[in-house]
Amino acid sequence: MSDSSSPDVIVIGAGAAGLFTAIAAGKRGRRVTVVDHAPQAGAKILISGGGRCNFTNLDAQPARYLSANPHFCISALRRYTPRDFIALVERHGIAWHEKKLGQLFCDNSARDILAMLLNEAADAGVDLRLDCAIGGVRAGDEGVAGGGFVVDTARGQMTAPKLVVATGGLSIPKMGATDFAYRLARQFGLAVVAPRPGLVPFTFTPQDLARTQGLSGVALDAVVKAHKAAFREALLITHRGLSGPSILQASSYWRAGEAITVDLTPDLDLAEHLKAAKRARPNAELKTILGDVLPRRFADRLCGEGGAGEIESRPLRDLSDKALAAVGEQLRRWTVVPAGTEGYRTAEVTVGGIDTNELSSKTLEAKKVPGLHVVGEAVDVTGWLGGYNFQWAWSSGWVAGQAL
Ligand code: FDA
Repeated sequence: MSDSSSPDVIVIGAGAAGLFTAIAAGKRGRRVTVVDHAPQAGAKILISGGGRCNFTNLDAQPARYLSANPHFCISALRRYTPRDFIALVERHGIAWHEKKLGQLFCDNSARDILAMLLNEAADAGVDLRLDCAIGGVRAGDEGVAGGGFVVDTARGQMTAPKLVVATGGLSIPKMGATDFAYRLARQFGLAVVAPRPGLVPFTFTPQDLARTQGLSGVALDAVVKAHKAAFREALLITHRGLSGPSILQASSYWRAGEAITVDLTPDLDLAEHLKAAKRARPNAELKTILGDVLPRRFADRLCGEGGAGEIESRPLRDLSDKALAAVGEQLRRWTVVPAGTEGYRTAEVTVGGIDTNELSSKTLEAKKVPGLHVVGEAVDVTGWLGGYNFQWAWSSGWVAGQAL
């Protein structure tokens, strides 16, 4: 028999999804214990959104998420919406603003969101145990009501009829990310969609780095395409490759070895622009004209002195229309094969995770393992940049909490 002090639910992971699951279940009268090996709950919340936590997105629709089953997230996102989370934020008097593209941030600090969650958890009677390493988990025996689960922790054994895995993905290992969810999935026979870093900068080969040498810090408005997805936002050249929102978004779709293409003048038919410039200013140098529509440092590098750049800069009158069209094409369809990504060290998310086929979309419960639920980033549901990942943490946590 479970003793009266043992909880109804053990949640492993005190991040966004684990805390929200615990709050939802606690509010429904369940005795919930949350265990985390880190000394700080919600550490990623604190560093998110540059310290202001981009806590949701007004446009959190299923199309903004990657998953082997794009329909899986529909139910949870419909049942707990951005409006629901905004209402909670407002009940706690947290001031917020929309920055761009539906992205909502705290006016003050991400600490406000974490404090809200911890207050809600305390009100719901959640027992939070931090700095508590997990040794292992196994299915319980007749000693645990309904079978249940036994969790070995650094502070002794715990048992509960329900177990929630909310240990996130692999990004930022130095903040406590582990492969716990995937190991547990294997232990219980649940398939895992191979994880890979998402929302992550690209690195370049030495040859491509030589082409962008000296341009680190240059930012452009660009459309970046990877694996049929296209994103228009800022692109930033770094000393190791490419970053910026458009690149981070594209990285979640990119597969190793594939090329990305970049349109560096998305609002301009560059070939036509150059041909018109040739008629209007025949004596102007190509690099001068390119410098009017691209960051000058970039244009200068492109048309490097003495032919060192990719494009030879000459007065426009000396360049055929065909040559100008080729320059236009080159810059509207700049193609590069990244050497790789910066990896989990800097990735904001992990794409992939526990296969959604294994889970109920209504309760996030494992179909093969009654009583075991998986929420948040550990699941193969990954949002775009812009508050979508936290919304998935809130939505998946809330629906799981209704079923515990
Ligand atoms: P999360 O990773 O938050 O929590 C998992 C918890 O499990 C952690 O507390 C960890 O310590 C614990 N854990 C892991 N392994 C364990 C083990 N073996 N034993 C015990 N405990 C274990 N998203 C967004 O929507 N808006 C934003 O502004 C940002 N900004 C952002 C910035 C940066 C730098 C990063 C890295 C990420 C973001 N994100 C984001 C993404 C967002 O932070 C992420 O998707 C959610 O935190 C996922 O919530 P989870 O609760 O699923 O995992």
